[in-house]
Amino acid sequence: MQDLGPSVALTRSELEALWLPFTANRQFKANPRLLARARGMYYWTGDGRKILDGTAGLWCVNAGHARREITQAVAAQLETLDFGPTFQMAHPLAFQLANELVRIAPSGLDHVFFTNSGSEAVDTALKIALAFHRVRGAGTRTRLIGRERAYHGVGFGGISVGGIVPNRRTWSAALIPGVDHLPHTHDLARNAFSRGLPEHGAELAEELEGLVALHDASNIAAVIVEPVAGSTGVLLPPRGYLQRLREICDRHGILLIFDEVITGFGRTGSAFAAQEFGVRPDMITLAKGLTNGCIPMGGVLLSKAIYEAFMQGPDGIELFHGYTYSAHPAACAAGLATLGLYEREGLLTRAASLGKYWEDAAHALRGLPHVIDVRNYGLILGLELEPIPGKVGTRGYEVFTRCFERGVLVRQTGDVIALSPPLIVEKAQIDQIFGTLSEVLRGK
Ligand SMILES: Cc1ncc(COP(=O)(O)O)c(C=O)c1O
Repeated sequence: MQDLGPSVALTRSELEALWLPFTANRQFKANPRLLARARGMYYWTGDGRKILDGTAGLWCVNAGHARREITQAVAAQLETLDFGPTFQMAHPLAFQLANELVRIAPSGLDHVFFTNSGSEAVDTALKIALAFHRVRGAGTRTRLIGRERAYHGVGFGGISVGGIVPNRRTWSAALIPGVDHLPHTHDLARNAFSRGLPEHGAELAEELEGLVALHDASNIAAVIVEPVAGSTGVLLPPRGYLQRLREICDRHGILLIFDEVITGFGRTGSAFAAQEFGVRPDMITLAKGLTNGCIPMGGVLLSKAIYEAFMQGPDGIELFHGYTYSAHPAACAAGLATLGLYEREGLLTRAASLGKYWEDAAHALRGLPHVIDVRNYGLILGLELEPIPGKVGTRGYEVFTRCFERGVLVRQTGDVIALSPPLIVEKAQIDQIFGTLSEVLRGK
């Protein structure tokens, strides 16, 4: 891998024009980390260093980087039909991808609405929930329920039901009204060093009954949760928790939405976490692994009951919602090629077969300096470090930068290190990831 392509050495002033998202821009520009190319399990930096990708980019490159089957399908599609609107028009690939998605989706989720990102998928699902109740004559059901510490992207809907304080604080006055939050389920006192799903905390789902008692079910549209929360540091659902949420939603006619933007496409060991945990939501939001990260695309999987509710009444546009790039041909080509790869290489279930090896390697970090929790599921890891007093996040950031210097990309949120490698990861690479983390934690 010698040819690094166009020069990636940028001067300080060339770095200036771009405002990077979710980044300490001044820190970054003083010490930039530039990626030049990627293949399989690896990135190469601008100065030619090889970096093992422990995070599948941002939880999206599930089949590994720059897979020829996908890049060639995208290139061929752009030569054939570069763009085609999906407003009152369409192209065959959009239907093919919808059918392929429905084929691997939990049974009963048999329709798809395409978006371009996870944030748009979340806002779309929330809008569909409100519109669904309205079209069937239950227009008072307008309240939405999210959860503390949740990440549902950065649209106004997503930050309103989300529960990450810095993502909401600045826009507090503009959040959508009528939103409540369930308590988060992270409980180190009872569940630290869990292997797989934590034992304690299913009863936290009962808090939903309290919100129903407060507002009355006739005013509540939907509950949205991530089956496994990623962005606030890998929060796993306590055993039985999601089942209880489902039961309570059913009892009160409330829609249940799973945000599977990170858990979709094999991360937990099944195609979707809904299947892995045996709970069927009414809608699932998707993105990231849908196209193996190479073309932006998101979507909402939804039940026949929801779709059919819109197909009654006068013949005309049923939902005044959509994006110019919904089902973009290049994204559909990427999605179809990606799903084909996942299937041929058994990637949707590989996290289940590698899960035990991953778990044992992860829990070997227990006892190292500052490690206060190790939690895992499928090919996911949360490693929680004791914060430095008065400097929350500093320890996590140091571990992230030191691992990067040693050739391993990990993800840091606060003092939690999150790992989610491409699902093609080999045992030797798992050893390298945890070996590097272990050295860094021991200060070697
Ligand atoms: C659970 C969840 N929902 C939504 C999003 C937002 O997706 P995007 O960044 O594609 O808008 C993310 C992104 O990490 C996510 O983890």
